[in-house]
Amino acid sequence: MIITVDGPAASGKGTLARRLARHYGLPHLDTGLLYRGVGYLLLERNRALDDATTAEAIAQSLDLTKLDADALRADRISEAASYVAAMPGVRAALLKMQQDFARQPGGAVLDGRDTGTVIAPEAEAKLFVTASPEERARRRHVELATRREPTEYCEVIADIRKRDERDSERSVAPLKPAPDAVLLDTTQLDIEAAFRAAIAIVEATRAGRARS
Ligand code: DC
Repeated sequence: MIITVDGPAASGKGTLARRLARHYGLPHLDTGLLYRGVGYLLLERNRALDDATTAEAIAQSLDLTKLDADALRADRISEAASYVAAMPGVRAALLKMQQDFARQPGGAVLDGRDTGTVIAPEAEAKLFVTASPEERARRRHVELATRREPTEYCEVIADIRKRDERDSERSVAPLKPAPDAVLLDTTQLDIEAAFRAAIAIVEATRAGRARS
């Protein structure tokens, strides 16, 4: 079974995808880490964020196992990731690896922005996880404080809005729900309630497919 979990930054999709993967015994890929990896290496090489040629070359030889996932999740990498994610050459270079991951025997859980629309449109269950920008900023603010990267709330929400705009308005693979995705708004839900809702969505989708 392939399960895709898409949605904007700090919607809770990563946590839900990890928990769904554990629940169903499936491998999990956080596709955002790929774009973060490209952004990270671009910054490390002191390249401009709009250097698409270098970003594409980095994407073609990206090996996530050589990078520290925790360092990739740092706030300074978020903006770089959002820039390189808008580059068609970077997305094309990362496509096959994501598709191979999704199509491995037994299936997989993938989370990101386009996993249900572009990477695995054939997925059995698709979730589109959202929350209000204010709630997502509140969560990210808490997360940054926990990571010892204290930031003002007003900066976090401005950054969330900027990234939402860039992710939604880019010409290639913009952030949008797949037509057959089920929307899960986690604004009022804690992680346990969101997880129960996610399981219910996956089970209902499976039951619906079994009937048809
Ligand atoms: O989910 P995240 O914050 O780790 O994602 C980092 C950036 O990568 C974000 O700006 C959106 C982009 N991204 C994307 O365009 N497509 C994906 N499948 C995953 C992430």
